[in-house]
Amino acid sequence: MSMSIIFFLLLSSCTSSVLSADVNDGLVLLKIKEQLGNPQELSNLAEVYQHCGGTTFNFHGEIQCDNNGRIHYLTLLSITASAPFPEAICDLTELEGLSLLSLYNLYGPIPSCISQLSNLNLLDIERTGLSGSLPESLFLNHQKLKYLILTSNAFSGSIPTSLSTIPTLSDLDLSNNSLTGTIPPDLVHGQDAAISLNDNRLTGEIPKCYQWLPLHGISVRNNELNGDPSFLFNKENIIGIDLSHNDFEFDLSNVEISKSLRSLYLGFNKIYGNIPQSIASAHADYLIDLDLRNNNLCGEIPQSQVAPWQPFEASIFADNKCLCGSPLPPCQNPGPAP
Ligand SMILES: *[C@@H]1O[C@H](CO)[C@@H](O)[C@H](O)[C@H]1NC(C)=O
Repeated sequence: MSMSIIFFLLLSSCTSSVLSADVNDGLVLLKIKEQLGNPQELSNLAEVYQHCGGTTFNFHGEIQCDNNGRIHYLTLLSITASAPFPEAICDLTELEGLSLLSLYNLYGPIPSCISQLSNLNLLDIERTGLSGSLPESLFLNHQKLKYLILTSNAFSGSIPTSLSTIPTLSDLDLSNNSLTGTIPPDLVHGQDAAISLNDNRLTGEIPKCYQWLPLHGISVRNNELNGDPSFLFNKENIIGIDLSHNDFEFDLSNVEISKSLRSLYLGFNKIYGNIPQSIASAHADYLIDLDLRNNNLCGEIPQSQVAPWQPFEASIFADNKCLCGSPLPPCQNPGPAP
């Protein structure tokens, strides 16, 4: 290679390098503040940014940045501003964590520009007035997302099936919105995964493939789900299951209980059959929280063989079809067969 060609390559690689001097997260912060209507709670925002990562200020949130002043974590907390989602946030392209907590008067949808934040591993939006659907494309670019927490907002429509394409997603909490439709398959992948979909209007069954997901916890309390999800009870490493306040209808008589399970809430469904010995033994041994209230269960409550054990509390069996035996009143002797 001749010298002139090498020189040309060097020159062209220099001139084509883009300096990022025009990226100024400090200015972006001021824009965010402006888009929120310059709320009183953010009056010292510039000062907090000047010292980000160092001194802690009395501030409605938290800012963490690197040596170049690029913001990696931004939390805004308890700000009363009434405004749409401040789109300037989408210009904080190094963000790994974004938390918007108790911004009750924030309204409108999550803007599509949020897909620019491809480094996010945490997106936590809780207790805001944000509404609208969660389009399939919204999180497609977030292939590093680990925690997606969108609880207590006003989101509607169905859960995006595209969440299942995020290989790192392990903690999904969409509780307390107005979500409808069915639960998509394979929503989480990471180890020790947990799903909370409580307090929505979801319908249909829990997909069978959840049997094979590495789930620690699944909570779908207070939806309109149906079918038989008892395949979850014997999952390896499962710790907590809350299926209460749905339309689940299945026979409890032969279920098996995983040794790892600590809480099993089944109250307020249409579960029938009798209570199997496996549940009594598990409850005496490792299953600490059990709730079977308000179902269609029947028959004699099995007594545990494991000692020492806590007696059942009567309340966990209340409002069933015809359960009997300790701690409920004794079963009626059916008398001699005719
Ligand atoms: C659900 O969200 C609403 C609105 O943000 C809130 O007032 C309510 O306390 C939340 N409920 C639960 C159970 O978190």
